Amino acid sequence: MKIERNHFGYTENAESVDLFTLTNNEDLQVQISNFGGTVVSILAPDRNRNFGQVALGFDNLQQYIDDSPYFGCLVGRYANRIGKGKFMLNGIEYSLAQNNGDNHLHGGLKGFDKAVWQAKELSGENWVGLELTYQSQDGEENYPGKVDVRVVYTLNNENALQIDYFATCDQDTVVNLTNHTYFNLAETGDILGHELFLNANRFTPVDDTLIPTGELRSVQGTPMDFSTASIIGDRIDEDDDQLNFAGGYDHNWVINKSADSLILAATVYEPTSGRVLEAYTTQPGIQFYSGNFLDGAVSGPNGRVYHKHSGFCLETQHFPDSPNQPNFPSTILKPGNEYRQTTVYRFSFRQ
Ligand code: GLA
Repeated sequence: MKIERNHFGYTENAESVDLFTLTNNEDLQVQISNFGGTVVSILAPDRNRNFGQVALGFDNLQQYIDDSPYFGCLVGRYANRIGKGKFMLNGIEYSLAQNNGDNHLHGGLKGFDKAVWQAKELSGENWVGLELTYQSQDGEENYPGKVDVRVVYTLNNENALQIDYFATCDQDTVVNLTNHTYFNLAETGDILGHELFLNANRFTPVDDTLIPTGELRSVQGTPMDFSTASIIGDRIDEDDDQLNFAGGYDHNWVINKSADSLILAATVYEPTSGRVLEAYTTQPGIQFYSGNFLDGAVSGPNGRVYHKHSGFCLETQHFPDSPNQPNFPSTILKPGNEYRQTTVYRFSFRQ
């Protein structure tokens, strides 16, 4: 197994950014940049052991700075939406950037996805890894308190990419971290023929601005039901309010679990290549996003244009808008406590 470090480019502030290439003994290769902690590339085998690109991305830093629809990045301080960009904490109202209509999205104008993280290569007997650290200052993007974040990516010989998230703070704040990799297990075309299983009997329905209503609604009898594996495209065009609000799937599912242990949240199978992706997580929710806002405006390596539904995301997370939803699991982090979450994306294939 190995990890290599190469220069990737410079930010506007002349900060040097690197690209790390992690390769395991099975030849699975993952590239991660310390700009936004971004997964830039994943080469994974199909059923004939041909390796192909299963992550949407760019081959140069500038496109990540200018154009990225959150490809592959770490998202924070608060991943997903906060309604109207406002929340109350300890009797004080905080006003955040309204960068998604009236709502706050993915940490604001300069979220963790646009930060240059400190990077350190790690390795063990059967794994290689990358430790990324970032200090988010008190008041950054108007969030209260200083937060020290550490994210460790590890790749092992079971073709699992593990992401461990840690955070501490010096003042009460809210924290919700995720990774925003877009996958396409077929390498090209759209993801509508992929089959999805979600280990969830409920989801959090949204209003027409994609803010949860607060309800935990059963998926039964709706196009949101992936509790038995179903083809993503089969029901995506149904005339359903939830699908209409989002232009497809862009919702948070409530993972079936009783504790914070690492459990299977999703399995995706792509029939032509045989590729399988499993997502395991300690988090309570998972945003399944079917790439509805991709519109052909950006393109990647070899002129590959990213169209609507060119990729899907499985963003493991706390529920959107939790700071304003008393019935959702809390996203408040207090001094002396440690935020800790783990997500594993594991690649395999079926014959
Ligand atoms: C998340 C959101 C989507 C969209 C993407 C980024 O998945 O839920 O609505 O904003 O990020 O384009």
